[in-house]
Amino acid sequence: MLGIIGGTGLTQLANLKIKRRQIVRTPYGEPSGPLSYGDICGYEVIFLPRHGHGHTIPPHLVNYRANIWALHSEGVRDIVSVATVGGIHEDLHPGVIALPDQVIDYTQGRKNTFHDGGDMPVKHVDFTEPYCPRLRGLCLEAAQNINESLVDGGVYGCVQGPRLETRAEINRMERDGATMVGMTGMPEAALARELGINYAAICPIVNHAAGRGNSVHHIHYEDTADVLNETMERVRKLIERMVVG
Ligand code: HPA
Repeated sequence: MLGIIGGTGLTQLANLKIKRRQIVRTPYGEPSGPLSYGDICGYEVIFLPRHGHGHTIPPHLVNYRANIWALHSEGVRDIVSVATVGGIHEDLHPGVIALPDQVIDYTQGRKNTFHDGGDMPVKHVDFTEPYCPRLRGLCLEAAQNINESLVDGGVYGCVQGPRLETRAEINRMERDGATMVGMTGMPEAALARELGINYAAICPIVNHAAGRGNSVHHIHYEDTADVLNETMERVRKLIERMVVG
């Protein structure tokens, strides 16, 4: 079963025929909202908007463990997540869609493991390749089929937020090798790995990162709405094609 985690701008999927919504309780508390069970052209999927159905949960307060646990408990073994980012690399300007292949985690204080003792003894999962090559491949293939261009690869730097970064922080992230910056990619990807769920992230670039492009003095985050809407429409088509194959 495929799970789709929607981010900012993707609280619903146009082609998803929702059959039912269900609240799933977990040992880690409540997920961001009820899971939506439905199908896209006959293919079963479960959809969960990360920030809640009304987009009320900020990135640092998302219950990532409950979200991943709930999806897993409902039989999800593949997750495609959508997470908007700021572009650090010059090729990653607003409107581009990237498919990262690596991640650097700069978050602090998030509950980032299921294995914290008790029933879930300490375990160190391999995370050398954080994103599933098969799911990434399916996504690239879908993009090709609908003539969508994706940037294949990139390093997602996940920050704590909710504030945006300073120019110096972005400069440091760039020196580290990060090509894009977002607030929700972690611990989501690592938690999926802990439960053996294949995971890939689709990252629409909605703004230049601080100190880059037209964000050289100031990030006009409010101005990202138009790019966001246009790009999410393409992301929807991409996911729908990916599901249908
Ligand atoms: N920084 C952090 N997270 C983001 C950004 C950004 O510039 N844009 C979208 N999510």
